[in-house]
Amino acid sequence: MLSDNALVEVKNLRTYFHLAEGIVRAVDGVDLVIKPGRTLGVVGESGCGKSITALSLMQLVPSPGQIEEGEIIYYKTVQETELTATADVINITKLQSNSREMRAIRGNQISMVFQEPMTAMLPVRTVGSQIMEAIILHQGVEKEEARERAIEILARVNLPNPDRIVDTYPFQLSGGMRQRAVIAMALSCNPNLLIADEPTTALDVTTEAQILDLMRNLQRDFNMAIMYITHNLGVIAEMADEVAVMYMGKVVEQTDVRSIFLTPLHPYTRALLRSIPQLDDVMARAGKKKRLETIRGMVPDPYSVLRGCSFHPRCPQYMPGVCDKVAPEVIEVEPGHTVRCHLYAPRTSEIQEAAESTKDTTS
Ligand SMILES: Nc1ncnc2c1ncn2[C@@H]1O[C@H](COP(=O)(O)OP(=O)(O)OP(=O)(O)O)[C@@H](O)[C@H]1O
Ligand code: SF4
Ligand SMILES: [Mg+2]
Repeated sequence: MLSDNALVEVKNLRTYFHLAEGIVRAVDGVDLVIKPGRTLGVVGESGCGKSITALSLMQLVPSPGQIEEGEIIYYKTVQETELTATADVINITKLQSNSREMRAIRGNQISMVFQEPMTAMLPVRTVGSQIMEAIILHQGVEKEEARERAIEILARVNLPNPDRIVDTYPFQLSGGMRQRAVIAMALSCNPNLLIADEPTTALDVTTEAQILDLMRNLQRDFNMAIMYITHNLGVIAEMADEVAVMYMGKVVEQTDVRSIFLTPLHPYTRALLRSIPQLDDVMARAGKKKRLETIRGMVPDPYSVLRGCSFHPRCPQYMPGVCDKVAPEVIEVEPGHTVRCHLYAPRTSEIQEAAESTKDTTS
């Protein structure tokens, strides 16, 4: 475990889709720690399992997907007196998606903002009625009071004329305004954890910057944790305190945001960093007509199960006979900095022995 101060701890989570074509191991042994009041950025290429990890935390994995193994531990704070509080330990993987306990957690203590705001809001109902529904469900207040609170929260996400917007339909708002309304809906019950799954991908850069600003301010005021999912390392640099880098259903590196940019360890993290444009580089490249570096090769198809390290067909530091034979374990290189790569194994000889023994049994 990376920290004894955790709000949510994910241990060896496996979420699979059993399809006629084969098994998609969307999440394949993920370990994560989300700390109270902090932002964990989750980054990785399309299809690496970011959204399915988030949906597993909410017990909202779409059928035919299911959590096969692992634990999602939620440390729910229970206020005992005004001064003392303890944590109630809840294993989310043990709860049924539709159980009363899970519904009390979802939308109330853990809520989610999706990439496309239109999927989060029903087009045929007003913005206000959808926010009020969550408030009435979780806080048990009367309609009048729920409406007052909905207007307050719409003002809190900086929507102009909130007492008018409360009665508008989602399609009457611009993309940026709609995403603010969706954030308002997610915040209406003051959650301990907000999961934001690429919430700004559909927006222009100016609106994106405003939404990121808004989320940072709300986090400070509400003291909530954020799990921020993106493929954009620039957004990670702005938003995250800790970062988890995912590749093919696994977290391959996790540490604080400074270390990810200054001392990245995993060859995949390094390749991701080399593939983002820097302004100086852009100017230099424009003159010299040089191209930005890309990560060689493609993400393998989702049904394939690679022996050894799943990054080995694309890795510039691939060690034949080792990386294609033995799957790397998580190694804590420095306190709080973990990596899944044989380059950092304390005893490479042991891995070589393991590789030799797999060769013996398979040849
Ligand atoms: N409903 C589904 N049925 C079958 N496979 C699915 C389903 N949803 C996701 N998957 C598969 O699970 C894997 C992980 O998908 P996921 O949506 O978590 O990726 P992601 O990292 O969020 O990608 P993106 O950046 O494109 O959103 C992918 O291979 C995807 O094809
Ligand atoms: S284990 Fe081997 S193939 Fe995988 S990232 Fe490390 S060096 Fe590359
Ligand atoms: Mg996704």
